[in-house]
Amino acid sequence: MARALLGLESSCDETAAAVVRSSDGAGEILSSIVYGQADLHSAFGGVVPEIAARAHTEKLDYCVEAALAEAGLGLSDLGGVAVTAGPGLIGGVLAGVMCAKGIAAGAGLPLIGVNHLAGHALTPRLTDGVAYPYLMLLVSGGHCQFLRVGGPDRFTRLGGTIDDSPGEAFDKVARLIGLPQPGGPAIERAAQAGDPARFALPRPLLDRDGCDMSFSGLKTAVLRARDGLVAAQGGLHGQDQADIAAAFQAAVRDVLAEKSRRALAASPGLSAFCVAGGVAANMPIRAALEEVAAECGTPFLAPPLALCTDNAAMIAWAGIELMGAGHRSGFDLAARPRWPLDTSQPPMLGHGKKGAKA
Ligand code: KG4
Ligand code: ZN
Repeated sequence: MARALLGLESSCDETAAAVVRSSDGAGEILSSIVYGQADLHSAFGGVVPEIAARAHTEKLDYCVEAALAEAGLGLSDLGGVAVTAGPGLIGGVLAGVMCAKGIAAGAGLPLIGVNHLAGHALTPRLTDGVAYPYLMLLVSGGHCQFLRVGGPDRFTRLGGTIDDSPGEAFDKVARLIGLPQPGGPAIERAAQAGDPARFALPRPLLDRDGCDMSFSGLKTAVLRARDGLVAAQGGLHGQDQADIAAAFQAAVRDVLAEKSRRALAASPGLSAFCVAGGVAANMPIRAALEEVAAECGTPFLAPPLALCTDNAAMIAWAGIELMGAGHRSGFDLAARPRWPLDTSQPPMLGHGKKGAKA
């Protein structure tokens, strides 16, 4: 039986450790511990890098201890240590990389640096054993891109956002119309009672070829609609909130669906169309993506939400796949704030509240 890998994740606002084993190519999660930091950052309206880095440094050791205890294993039972080495907030990535190096050196284990985005992109193989190649749409607060996944080290980026991620847009629009954070679930709830046709919001970049997306103009259009209502009637009524929420959600849905259609058309021979990230929890958006997949005759797959959002099981699994393909890192492994998966493409422009989206 294959030995288990310890995975560490600390690139944003989640400190996570997990132990994952592969038997006959299938993944088995022995433990997955995630310590969130949302309460540390909530007063600031976004993740504060210095606070995040300090919290990771304080929590990583406990997180590793908890992951090993839950798996019922000691360091000597492991086959290696995998760690997110980027992209992300550099202080947090450094904390994880230093912790992993310490464990690997102390226990005499192989070390493997993992690209955080590869962790997300390889999750459908951990959960469902999806065969290469497949299409992955990552849509969260920190990421937004289409990836054709051909192997643990073979990614082609077909397009992505040139500014905000959809999750950021959901959060900002919620703030604009007086709904609570996180904005995505609040907007989805409000939209159920709304009329999506009352406000004519744009579908950015649909007039342009390719799979790139933009969401910041949509947010500005919502701001104008809100300001118009405030000027005319002195504020927003509940129905106004619901109508704006419905119109905004429909616009994001339409953009993601049409760009998915193009991404699927551009990459024949796929085994599946997979989505991951917090925005994939949105039911109308998920239904629209599922419909596009069905139209194209491609199976649709969304991993369970706890494995779609940031976690260390995906990092351990990516480590297993990378080590299986012969990769190892040395003790000179560097923490990288930016690390595009597909280096043949120009870098992405979006930054956003959760750091670089490269
Ligand atoms: O993947 P995630 O949990 O965290 C990272 O980005 O790392 O994604 C969080 C984002 C937030 O912006 C949140 O508003 C959005 O996902 N989100 C949703 C929904 N649930 C969470 N967006 C739309 N509809 C939802 N139901
Ligand atoms: Zn992530």
